[in-house]
Amino acid sequence: MYTTRDIPVLGLRLDNPVIVGSGLLTDQARNIRKLIETGAGAVVTKTIHPAPPHGLDERIHRLPVGMLNSTTYSKRGVQEWLGNLREFADDNLPVIASVYADSPTELAELAAAVAGAGSAALELGISCLNDNGGLDDTAERVADYTAAARRATTRPISVKLSIGEGLRARAAAAIEAGADALSISDTIPGAAVTASGALELGGVFGYSGPGIKPLVLAALWDLRRSGITIPVLGIGGVTTADDVRDYLAVGACAVQVYTALHTDMYRTLSDVVAGTRKMTEQSDDATEVVA
Ligand SMILES: Cc1cc2nc3c(=O)[nH]c(=O)nc-3n(C[C@H](O)[C@H](O)[C@H](O)COP(=O)(O)O)c2cc1C
Repeated sequence: MYTTRDIPVLGLRLDNPVIVGSGLLTDQARNIRKLIETGAGAVVTKTIHPAPPHGLDERIHRLPVGMLNSTTYSKRGVQEWLGNLREFADDNLPVIASVYADSPTELAELAAAVAGAGSAALELGISCLNDNGGLDDTAERVADYTAAARRATTRPISVKLSIGEGLRARAAAAIEAGADALSISDTIPGAAVTASGALELGGVFGYSGPGIKPLVLAALWDLRRSGITIPVLGIGGVTTADDVRDYLAVGACAVQVYTALHTDMYRTLSDVVAGTRKMTEQSDDATEVVA
């Protein structure tokens, strides 16, 4: 199941299936390079947006299990990102550009620019629920954004979706509109209450970490059962190599790890990758014996 050392994901050939997911930690070129040096199969950039909202109170709040965050998109300009992406491409680094915009037309423009800068693969970060006070997502919206990006570039595209209502229809819409893969899941709506009875961070925002893993596993299992065969990147609560194994077992082709890296980033990544490599070797040995 996890025996491949040269894993094809979005046209990239990964030497292991552990990808660092999009977030604050991937908002800096230096971090991205060091995460790859540390062993990440690939890294997804913080979501690049041509006009990110400013003046919001964007924060993280740690919970006993997992994390709430009210962040939206990278505040770095598109030109700065295009320069970074060009350098990553020149150095042949496995970096996936996460992109989003306020309309399908603007997303198409951004996708073309990112592909023009040499990005080998794109992830559409279209499912951020912290933008505009929540995300009431529909298959139509997913189709519109995916189709626009698809028309703009021939580079492989993964469409990032959140688990929850209508996932089967949203996944089908992304596939129909030309997605090469799906990245599931973005954060899901969560809340915590302060001592004074108010909501932490001032509202309902994205919840991530180990608490969402069983929910994402169930959703991926259900998608496979419904007959969806497109590659899926499993995301949610990956903290150890056992979590990687679980995602691969329900049909993910690779995983993304994010919240776990907010604690001892490089050490944690290194441990997950080392554990995953060990499983791979054991699995290869077993295959040789059987063969
Ligand atoms: C602080 C923070 C920032 C994030 N920013 C982004 C983002 O810019 N784009 C995106 O697609 N996902 C973003 N995410 C979602 C993660 O990439 C991931 O899908 C989610 O956290 C679930 O995985 P995890 O449980 O391993 O963290 C963010 C998550 C957190 C906690």
